[in-house]
Amino acid sequence: MFELKERDGLARICELTTPHGKVTTPVLLPVVNPNFLTISPKEMKERFGVKMLITNSYIIRGTEALKEKATSSGVHELLGFDGPVMTDSGTFQDHVYGDVKVDPKEIVQFQTAIGSDIGTILDVFSEPDFTREKADRAVDETLRRAKESVPEKGKMMLAGTVQGGVYPDIRERCARDISALDFDVHPIGGVVPLLENYRYSDLAEVIVASKKGLNPSRPVHLFGAGHPMVFPLAVLLGCDMFDSASYAKYARQDRLMYSTGTRFLKDLHDLACHCPMCSRNTIEGLLQMPHDQRTRLIAEHNLHVCLREIKTVKNAIHEGSIWELVEMRARAHPALLEALKTLEKHKKYFERFEPASRRGAFFYCGSESYERPTVLRYQERYFSRYRKPDTRVLVGFEEAQKPYSKHYSKEIAAVSDKVDASFMVASFFGPAPIELDEYYPIAQSVIPAAMDPEVRRKMNAVMERHAHQHGYPLAVMWEGEETLRFLKEMVSGSPKKRDQDVLRVCAVLDMQFGKGAGDVLNGKRIDLVKSERTGKIRNVIIDGMHAFSMRAGDGRFTLKLQGGRLLLEVLKPPKMRVEIDDEPAEFAAKGNNVFAKFVRECDPDIRPGDDVLVVNSRGELAAVGRALMNREEMLAFKRGVAVRVKDSSD
Ligand code: GUN
Ligand code: ZN
Repeated sequence: MFELKERDGLARICELTTPHGKVTTPVLLPVVNPNFLTISPKEMKERFGVKMLITNSYIIRGTEALKEKATSSGVHELLGFDGPVMTDSGTFQDHVYGDVKVDPKEIVQFQTAIGSDIGTILDVFSEPDFTREKADRAVDETLRRAKESVPEKGKMMLAGTVQGGVYPDIRERCARDISALDFDVHPIGGVVPLLENYRYSDLAEVIVASKKGLNPSRPVHLFGAGHPMVFPLAVLLGCDMFDSASYAKYARQDRLMYSTGTRFLKDLHDLACHCPMCSRNTIEGLLQMPHDQRTRLIAEHNLHVCLREIKTVKNAIHEGSIWELVEMRARAHPALLEALKTLEKHKKYFERFEPASRRGAFFYCGSESYERPTVLRYQERYFSRYRKPDTRVLVGFEEAQKPYSKHYSKEIAAVSDKVDASFMVASFFGPAPIELDEYYPIAQSVIPAAMDPEVRRKMNAVMERHAHQHGYPLAVMWEGEETLRFLKEMVSGSPKKRDQDVLRVCAVLDMQFGKGAGDVLNGKRIDLVKSERTGKIRNVIIDGMHAFSMRAGDGRFTLKLQGGRLLLEVLKPPKMRVEIDDEPAEFAAKGNNVFAKFVRECDPDIRPGDDVLVVNSRGELAAVGRALMNREEMLAFKRGVAVRVKDSSD
């Protein structure tokens, strides 16, 4: 069982339930070689807080004493670890040594017999240098073995590996076909050579292609990824589990891992780390030790650093800053930067999982920040949803301090006094109408004044597009008093009094719920409750009924049931609707959350964090609430909340 708890796009924090207890993902499973214990499983648990391990059933089976003990007492007893244990199958040994003689069905039966929590099929390792034909054949054979393995799993959870070399279409096919089988975890295999050779851009392509084909409700394990450098990127792309023998392998070569790279002990001037090992030892002391003792201590450091990076990644997911973390880490190695740049071509895919808004602000970390799905989302919505007010004049301003309406309040007042105009800022995200200046991510962003020229060019191209389709007979950029004189000359008649607050409510409704949502205001009496302290809109009362509450954090609306009723009238199905079975709809109507397993259909435009309408099979409104998933996730997950209900009809 796998349950979504928190997320930032494809990056997610989930709870994985195994026969030996629950673990929170993302999780790192240190590799334990029972022949060769660098750090014992007991110590891993007690001193490092390791929650889950991975070991190799092929090695256990091939060593008589281990096989006997594992068969009689189980793999947990063998390792001295009572938490969840995953086992691998010998695929990797076949890749390295090429002499694995084991029957694919038998190795799964063996893993079941020794009580593994998650066993792995004997997939065929697809090398990056495989031709398409060879990669195709590796996938065919992996799928054949997958099919014959599933009936053998018993109570054990089973991992079905995605192979396919570096060919995205073959990866996606493998992922789709293997997801159709009754697996519990999907590792992405055949990537060790990519990791070893810093081919992170190829790695990213392989992960994205695999994720596109996989069932989103299953945990994804990245086989053999044990360097902290790749954790943020892999998690951003939707990987949940990692395993590592690297902490020990690197240690044997006197190599220390850091979240930004690897260093030989002899090349370091300072350990530059505060893990328990580094706090107690010096470089000189380590260099003078016998090799075995030093290996052991460096392995401790490496494991600490890996586990710490996983924690850093989890914090970033909670905070909504996984993109910032990945962009920061990309500065550590050109290969990571290259990988980041290859993500640009997948931003439409990422956008499907992109949250409606985030807790924290959007931090510009470099020119690549422009390629985040948040930017794409804003622009797409602006051009397809925003409706201009019925003025004839548009005055544009340069990017400035936020909120823009405050920064430009004098200019806006001076122009409004003379002519009937709308206002907009040529912002980093694209055209930002003044009435959207508190809407995420416009206000919730920190952009340096000195932007990269590449970003300037891209921003200009968007403003160019805007110039062609804004629909104002007269549009000018503000250039001070001169602009005011010019406008007075060009525009006759006196300005109408416009209610800026109603414009804001209407624009946010359109951007958030879809073009036309703002029509709920038409012909109605609108009363606004404002914050006494900040003067910002808090509640929107329509014909005496509380319909929407504007959140201070992201400038978007939380729906009240009345707001849901009004939207139901103006938005055609399936817009903003999550349709559930009638019985759970009655439950939702009483204020209970909607579980994913009850979802029958869902608007494909709904995004995690959207405020949605929960309807029954007849399309009647049961409740309103916050979606935690998009459509494909709601339909795939068997566990967990799909919509957190905020207001309901009973
Ligand atoms: N360990 C590292 N890579 C792989 C892989 O592709 N398949 C399996 N089963 N284990 C691995
Ligand atoms: Zn350390």
